[in-house]
Amino acid sequence: MDTLEQLVVQAEEEFRSAGDSAALENAKARYLGKSGRIADEMKQLGKMAPSARKAHGAVINGIKSRIEGALVARREQLARQQLQQRLSAESIDVTLPGRGSSRGGMHPVMKTWERVEQIFASIGFDVAEGPEIENDWNNFTALNNPENHPARSMQDTFYLDDTDAEGKRLLLRTHTSPMQVRYASSHPVPIKVIAPGRTYRVDSDATHSPMFHQVEGLWIDEAISFADLKGVYLNFVRTFFETDDIRVRFRPSYFPFTEPSAEIDVAFGSGALKGRWLEISGAGQVHPNVLRNMGIDAEKHIGFAFGSGLERLAMLRYGISDLRLFYEGDLRFLSQFN
Ligand code: PHE
Repeated sequence: MDTLEQLVVQAEEEFRSAGDSAALENAKARYLGKSGRIADEMKQLGKMAPSARKAHGAVINGIKSRIEGALVARREQLARQQLQQRLSAESIDVTLPGRGSSRGGMHPVMKTWERVEQIFASIGFDVAEGPEIENDWNNFTALNNPENHPARSMQDTFYLDDTDAEGKRLLLRTHTSPMQVRYASSHPVPIKVIAPGRTYRVDSDATHSPMFHQVEGLWIDEAISFADLKGVYLNFVRTFFETDDIRVRFRPSYFPFTEPSAEIDVAFGSGALKGRWLEISGAGQVHPNVLRNMGIDAEKHIGFAFGSGLERLAMLRYGISDLRLFYEGDLRFLSQFN
């Protein structure tokens, strides 16, 4: 074989054995580079007789373009190989079974919250929500519970180091009653509202959690009496528990912000809890001092307020004996309600 033919064979071999593009480019330089084999051959042309030079030049160019063709072919081959490698490394097994997605559901306390809203909205109550970080005035002082008053110890809470824009001390609200003050200070009488939400106290056992839920109710007009409170609340519990076979009792109690004050107990006529009185709410006629703190004329306006525990309502409705079950996030418990 003449040496130029050999050159093509050699180049093809070297290109074939180049395993990646860096090796291939090195091999290319040896044949097609400035001081490569083809360049050497070209230099020889100068020494040849002019008559032979033209024909031999054409031969060298033919060899050169065959080597270039081999180079391009190998480049493409390497690129294809690389792509294949990447594809198989990143491959997903589409025959594997999927992870599936399970349906979420509403927490029993949230279901209770929504149910309470629906019932009160259906008899014309507005629904309001307020902040869980409250100031001292709305949570205590405006509710006729002055600083250093012993009644404050009934509701110990978590205090923040900060104060609000007006310099009032901030705390986690101990009840939803501050919403009475917020709402009544920004809405004209007649006022008819419920305010469900989260509340906080320094308390923790089977029937107390440091975070729990309440729903506040407030109805103020010219002649809203304790009889209206009884009527509204009896209608509420009958609708909520879906039975007329239930009794409601108002037991005298004390709250600084109502006068007279009562605790509301219910007793079922049948079922596991038959005949037992169970406390579900505090309530009473709004105290005149509180009306004045809201900017309402206490000589002209009167009404009632109540504050009920949403967990309490949920426990009675679903027959749950330990409050802590609500907060453990155990799906075996939670999935029973959906
Ligand atoms: N805020 C009281 C509590 O949490 C309940 C209550 C609300 C009592 C409204 C009377 C009127 O104990």
